[in-house]
Amino acid sequence: MKFFIDSASVEEVKNAVRLGVADGVTTNPTLLARENKPAEVIYKELCKVVKGPVCAEAVSIVADDIIAESRKLSAIDENIVVKIPATKDGLIAVNQLESEGIKTNVTLIFSPMQALLAARAGATYVCPFVGRLDDAGHVGMELIEQIMQIFINYDLPTQVVVASVRGTLHVSDAAMIGAHIVTVPYNVIEKLIKHPLTDAGIQTFLKDWQKVKASS
Ligand code: G3P
Repeated sequence: MKFFIDSASVEEVKNAVRLGVADGVTTNPTLLARENKPAEVIYKELCKVVKGPVCAEAVSIVADDIIAESRKLSAIDENIVVKIPATKDGLIAVNQLESEGIKTNVTLIFSPMQALLAARAGATYVCPFVGRLDDAGHVGMELIEQIMQIFINYDLPTQVVVASVRGTLHVSDAAMIGAHIVTVPYNVIEKLIKHPLTDAGIQTFLKDWQKVKASS
C-alpha cells in the first residue's frame, strides 16, 4: 500500500520523506489555508521535497473553468495531479483533461457510483472520504470495500486513495481491504509507529544492558 501525506506543510512532508513513507502528497484549500503562503509557492516547494504526485485542488465549479484552471495547475510541475470534486462538471473536465495527459484525482467521493463514474471518465485517482462518512453516522470503510470490489470486477486502472483519514484504524483497515493508496495526516503517521509495548521493551533492554556493561 502506498502512503500519500495529507498535508500542505513542507516540514511535515519532509519528515515523512525521511521516514520513507511519502509516495506523494494530497492538499486541499483547507490544508493550504493553514500555511499562510501562496498556493503556487506551496505546490512548488512540495514538488521539490517529494518524489511522487502532488495533488493540487481546482476550485472552479463550471467544466470549462475547471479545465482552464487545471491546465494552469498542471503547468506548475510535471508531478502535479489535479484534484477535482465529484460533480457532473467535474467529470466532464476529468474526461477532457485525462485525454490531454493531465492526471486527475476525483475528490469528495461519498458513494461507489461516484467512484465508478470517475473511473469511467478516466480519472487516475479517486478519493473517497471515509472520516466524513463516519462523522455522518455511516461506516466509511464499507465504501472502500465497495469501490475496490467494483474496480476489481471490471479491472479498472483508477487507483483508490483512502482519504479523510482520522486515525490508525482507517489505515490498517485500508491495508486489510487492499486499497492502493491511503493519504494520511502526518500526526497519524506518527501514531502508526508508536506502541507502548515497544517503549516498555526498550526501557527493559536499557536497564538490563547496564547489568551487561557492569559485568564486562
Ligand atoms: O484529503 C482529504 C482530507 O484532507 C479531508 O480530510 O479531515 O477534512 O475530512 P477531512
